[in-house]
Amino acid sequence: MMTEKKIKILSKPSEVQAIASEWKKAGLSVGLVPTMGYLHDGHRSLIHRACAENDRVVVSIFVNPIQFGPTEDLATYPRDLDADSALCEEEGVDIIFHPEPEDMYGPHFSTHVAVEKITETLCGVSRPTHFQGVTTVVSKLFHISKADRAYFGEKDAQQLAVIRRMTEDLNMDIEIVGCPIVREEDGLAKSSRNKYLNPEERKAATVLSRSLSSAKKLLADGERSADVIRRTITEEISAEPLSDIDYVSVVDSVTFEDIEGEITTPVLVAIAVRIGTTRLIDNFSYSPQ
Ligand code: PAF
Repeated sequence: MMTEKKIKILSKPSEVQAIASEWKKAGLSVGLVPTMGYLHDGHRSLIHRACAENDRVVVSIFVNPIQFGPTEDLATYPRDLDADSALCEEEGVDIIFHPEPEDMYGPHFSTHVAVEKITETLCGVSRPTHFQGVTTVVSKLFHISKADRAYFGEKDAQQLAVIRRMTEDLNMDIEIVGCPIVREEDGLAKSSRNKYLNPEERKAATVLSRSLSSAKKLLADGERSADVIRRTITEEISAEPLSDIDYVSVVDSVTFEDIEGEITTPVLVAIAVRIGTTRLIDNFSYSPQ
């Protein structure tokens, strides 16, 4: 008789740590997929890969309060643990780690992990405390899950770069796996925040991926001026009345410093745009031959 594997949903860091210790003693590899829940096909692709590449998989579902600014959407961030659990179960996840804020941040909590420089550009300008919140919680999740590999989406390209910098700088013994952006049929990058868009805004939101496609085409046709790339994207987005640009950037993919003049090294072309009140991000990487 086949016995169905039942997924465990645990809220206490010590419970996950105890099981992860047993796994490690038994020589099993552990994959971690950190999420804030309301899982979509982008998350599914990370979870799928983690399950294929590891003996055991932990998915964390935690809307991390310390990565939200005071005027951001912490209270309204979408949540659906039942649907998330079903998706994780389908993919073969072993543990969902679903703590309460007080399980992660006790009354005397006073330790933070901060990455400098690359957190000060792009999203770091309008969200100055965001990345410290991310690196702090991600460090905790690494320790709790004892993961050998952790999976992050390339849609959050700056987050991925910040986490790679942190693990390298702090000699963390974990492999960071970046996974490609998953898009809707019309090009919009999948995001839990797409839920906030009304039908008119949802249509308008395709301007992000369309503007990046125009920039990609220019680069493929030989354009190398970072200014022309920025201007092309800015003009296309500005023509959409529901849009409000936070940034349109062409940055060096290692230093995250703005490229002035010609693109001669690998770059990240990254944008953040409000459609109505919803802030969306998108990007692509480009390496000149
Ligand atoms: O990308 C996210 O969903 C979050 O920033 C993360 C990595 C789960 C940390 O809270």
